[in-house]
Amino acid sequence: DAADKGEYRHYMLKEIYEQPKVIKNTLQGRISKDKILEQAFGTEAKAILDRAEHVQIVACGTSYHSGLVARYWLEEIAGVPCSVEVASEFRYRKFVVPKNSLFVTISQSGETADTLAALRLAKTLGYASSLAICNVAQSSLVRESDLAIMTEAGPEIGVASTKAFTTQLVALLLVTIALGRRHGLTAEAEAEMVAALHSLPEAIESTLTLDAEIKRKSEHFADKNHSLFLGRGAQYPVAMEGALKLKEISYIHAEAYPAGELKHGPLALVDADMPIVAVAPNNELIEKLKSNLEEVAARGGELFVFADVNTGLSSGPGLISVHMPTVASVIEPIIYTVPLQLLSYHVAVLKGTDVDQPRNLAKSVTVE
Ligand code: G6P
Repeated sequence: DAADKGEYRHYMLKEIYEQPKVIKNTLQGRISKDKILEQAFGTEAKAILDRAEHVQIVACGTSYHSGLVARYWLEEIAGVPCSVEVASEFRYRKFVVPKNSLFVTISQSGETADTLAALRLAKTLGYASSLAICNVAQSSLVRESDLAIMTEAGPEIGVASTKAFTTQLVALLLVTIALGRRHGLTAEAEAEMVAALHSLPEAIESTLTLDAEIKRKSEHFADKNHSLFLGRGAQYPVAMEGALKLKEISYIHAEAYPAGELKHGPLALVDADMPIVAVAPNNELIEKLKSNLEEVAARGGELFVFADVNTGLSSGPGLISVHMPTVASVIEPIIYTVPLQLLSYHVAVLKGTDVDQPRNLAKSVTVE
C-alpha cells in the first residue's frame, strides 16, 4: 500500500527499497528471454518508431536527468540523434524541428505545467509524433500524446523522486532498443541488453545491501555546506541527479560537473570543506576519471567515491570509497543512482530535515 510507510521511517526510503520490484513491474510483459516485445508498447508504436529519425526529449527536474541519460543510450546504442532540454526553456525559444523527429516527454506525474505546454506547442510545430514516458495513466500528458509507455513505479509520495527516475530509465532503455532495431542494432547486441535488463532487480538488491555502510560514511557529509558531484559519460547525468537529490532534501549546496570540466573552474573551489562525490564504474573512462580525482586529492579535497570493486579505488587518506558490484555497462547509470539516493537520504536524516516534504518544493508543479 503506497500510503503506508510500513517498516520505513520515510516514504523516500521505502520508495528507494521498492526499486527492484517496480523495475520488475516495468519490464513485465515487455521483454522475453532475449528480445524486447515491442507490441507491448501499443498498436501505434510500430509506425511511430519506424518514422523516427531524431528524438527530442523535454522534461523537468529529475525526469530531465533521465532524458539526459537516454541521450547517451540513443546515440550510442540506437544511433539516433537526440536532443534534450528542460521544458521551461524549450517552450520559450525558437527552435528548428528536425525531419521525422519524435517528441518525447518524460514525467512522473504527467501534469507538470511546463512539460505539458511544451508538448502542446510541439504538436503545432511539425514534430512527427509524440511519446510520453509517464507514471500516471490518466494524466494529461498521456492523454495528449500519440503514444505512452508507462513506468510502473506505483504512487510516489516522497517529493524527491527515486523509483520514478529508475523506472523512467528502464522505459527509455526499452525505447532505445526498439529504435536501435531500426538502425542496425544486431539481435546479439539486443540479447545482451535484454540480459542486462533481466539482471537489474538483483543488481539493485545487491546495491541496497550497501545501505548501512553508506549511512555510516554519510556522517562525513552532514556538517558540510557545499559539495561537488562528478561523473563522465552517462554517469554525468547520474551525478546531476545525485546533486539534485542532495540539494532537495538536505539543503546542502551541490553542483554536478562532468569530471573533465573540473580544471575549467570548479577546481578553484576545492578544499577540505567541500566533499567531492564521484561515480566510478569500471568502464573505458575510468583512467581519465582517476586522474581527475587525483587533481582533487592534490588540492586537499575529500573524495567520496562510489567505485566498481575492480577499479582499485579504495579508502585511504582523503578518499572514502564504497565498492559497487560489477554490472553490465548499459545499466550502470541505473545502478549507480541508488547509492546516491541513499547518501542524500542519510545526510538529510542526520540534518533533521523533512525528508519527504522538503521546504519550498512540491511533488508536482502544475502551475508555471
Ligand atoms: C517537481 C518534483 C520533482 C520532479 C519534477 C518534475 O520539481 O519535486 O521531483 O522531478 O517536478 O516532475 P514530473 O512529474 O514531470 O516528473
